[in-house]
Amino acid sequence: MANISYVDGKQFRKALGAFATGVTVVTGRGSDGKDVGLTANSFNSVSLDPPMVLWSLGKSSSNLEAFMHTDHFAVHILSLDQEHVSNQFAKKDIDRFEGMAVERSVENIPLLGGCSARFECRTAYRYEGGDHVIFVGEVRSFESFDRPPLLFHSGKYGVLLKKSNAELKDPSSNFGDDFLGFLLRRAYFQLLAPLRADIQRRGLHEIHRSILSILSMGEGRSVAELGRLLELTGHRAEDNHFQELVAQGLVELGEDDGSPKVHFTLAGRQSAIEHMAVGKAAEEDAMQGLDPQEVRLLKALLNRVIQNTRASLPDSLSKEKFWLENNIWGARGTLRQ
Ligand SMILES: Cc1cc2nc3c(=O)[nH]c(=O)nc-3n(C[C@H](O)[C@H](O)[C@H](O)COP(=O)(O)O)c2cc1C
Repeated sequence: MANISYVDGKQFRKALGAFATGVTVVTGRGSDGKDVGLTANSFNSVSLDPPMVLWSLGKSSSNLEAFMHTDHFAVHILSLDQEHVSNQFAKKDIDRFEGMAVERSVENIPLLGGCSARFECRTAYRYEGGDHVIFVGEVRSFESFDRPPLLFHSGKYGVLLKKSNAELKDPSSNFGDDFLGFLLRRAYFQLLAPLRADIQRRGLHEIHRSILSILSMGEGRSVAELGRLLELTGHRAEDNHFQELVAQGLVELGEDDGSPKVHFTLAGRQSAIEHMAVGKAAEEDAMQGLDPQEVRLLKALLNRVIQNTRASLPDSLSKEKFWLENNIWGARGTLRQ
């Protein structure tokens, strides 16, 4: 236990950091008419009736003078996408408002957009609080937006993951529920069931689906190149698989610089797009009950697993560029016309 007659600043900060908070930017206007603002996670609610909030400002802050004199301030609860805003409003000796779209409150206080909630306040009280000044604001107006919040814990930003008892309880003794490889394989198998059915309906096999999927990441590759990329999916494509796709009218082999290059036919392109729509619907079904930020988190974590396990790939594959400029999806899966 830390001795309270002597407080090690570092240890004290560390202990305080155990308290997970959101992140806010507080803005105001100095007596010289200059906009001021800073990142603050000392924000908290105080009273519902009258509506009041508080935050505290370090006495050494370059903003102290301004906030000691302004009668109004605004608190913005930052959204998940505003980590850069938090960083910018915590940096010293820069114009913190640069590049920010600013609106104005009735009292001319700068208001930022893109946040999860915003409170316009009248400074009701200022209290001494050691090396900080505590500002209590009476909320004059507020808005909240349906955006997931940015979190802060132990000196790091975080995302909100709602605790669902079933998922976050201690890993069970059941090996199958606790082995990532098994979970990934099972989730993959189940998620792709509608895609397998779609492939069957089209009279194709899994290997054809894999070829078309790699082709949709970039057309005009040779049969050999596509075959190499397919190895990553654990499939081996033989010449006859390409011939079958040609026979179905889905791809054509054009003879560029001596080696046959594979392109979609119009029908093949349409078929790939329809197949992707089935895949997107399957993804939506699989993500039922998850918040958009949980879906983002899941994808971000899976990407991390992909990065962490990259070394297991043969050198040739880990350097391979899967996505070419002429892929059929365009940025973020929006279809190219
Ligand atoms: C996540 C985060 C939370 C912060 N919370 C506070 C706070 O509650 N109060 C405060 O005075 N400074 C806080 N700071 C530091 C300020 O944003 C700013 O960096 C500091 O006030 C120095 O700049 P200044 O002298 O221009 O105010 C925080 C910084 C970060 C990154």
